[in-house]
Amino acid sequence: MEKANTTPLLELRQVNKAFNLPSGTVTALENVSLTINKGELVALVGPSGSGKTTLLNIIGSLDRPSAGEVILEGVRIDVLSEEDLVHFRREKFSFIFQDAKPLRMLNVLENTLLPFNFFKPKNRNGNIKSEGIDIIKSLGLGHRIYHMPSQLSGGEIQRVAIARALITHPAMILADEPTANLDRDNRLFVVDTFRKLSKEKSIAIVFSTHDLEIANKADRIVHLKDGVFLKDEAVCCTPCPAN
Ligand SMILES: Nc1ncnc2c1ncn2[C@@H]1O[C@H](COP(=O)(O)OP(=O)(O)OP(=O)(O)O)[C@@H](O)[C@H]1O
Ligand SMILES: [Mg+2]
Repeated sequence: MEKANTTPLLELRQVNKAFNLPSGTVTALENVSLTINKGELVALVGPSGSGKTTLLNIIGSLDRPSAGEVILEGVRIDVLSEEDLVHFRREKFSFIFQDAKPLRMLNVLENTLLPFNFFKPKNRNGNIKSEGIDIIKSLGLGHRIYHMPSQLSGGEIQRVAIARALITHPAMILADEPTANLDRDNRLFVVDTFRKLSKEKSIAIVFSTHDLEIANKADRIVHLKDGVFLKDEAVCCTPCPAN
């Protein structure tokens, strides 16, 4: 039986986000308060324009709130300088996007190791290349390690994005509609992998989706509408029902 982990990892307090455009102000998020626990799998659902991407960007410190607080492991990160924030972002978060394309001139392994071209993680022992190979194999891509992206299917490409997200040992993965372009088998593979990673590696994973079958595999579904937090729904999934 999976045990719920209720250690808070990240907290949003009364977060607002407004975009000032020449035509007026667009309020994308209004007073959103939310806690994400370690190892929790959270689905963000809501109609188009409800604020899912904006919320993911603020959780992952890609964007700052107009008002409110973002607290990661007890540190208020929304007020950090960009220089300090970069450190948190690289060490703590990984991102998977709907249209995340691997770099075309790099093979699967090189794409997986790509984050290390930009930073060297502290306290990281062991052979990163062999770890990359292990991660790729664990995602069922053992026969594709040296293949180029042009030789991969859409489902395989999304697995490369997951491998790249895992190689940095993040505390949290943020995934914006990661299954939107996939067929049902690949959608289920992605969400089942998220579920496994969140439980086995204690990685908190927050993903947005329009697909309720996928959302129902999460521990919790957060519903947004017009930038407002509508409800927070625990999904009874312990143990997860058979597919
Ligand atoms: N950079 C921006 N500048 C101005 N308005 C923005 C910006 N980003 C988002 N918005 C607005 O904020 C609101 C929320 O957008 P957001 O992209 O977060 O919605 P979403 O729930 O992710 O939608 P979708 O399901 O279509 O991806 C929308 O009204 C959008 O037009
Ligand atoms: Mg979006």
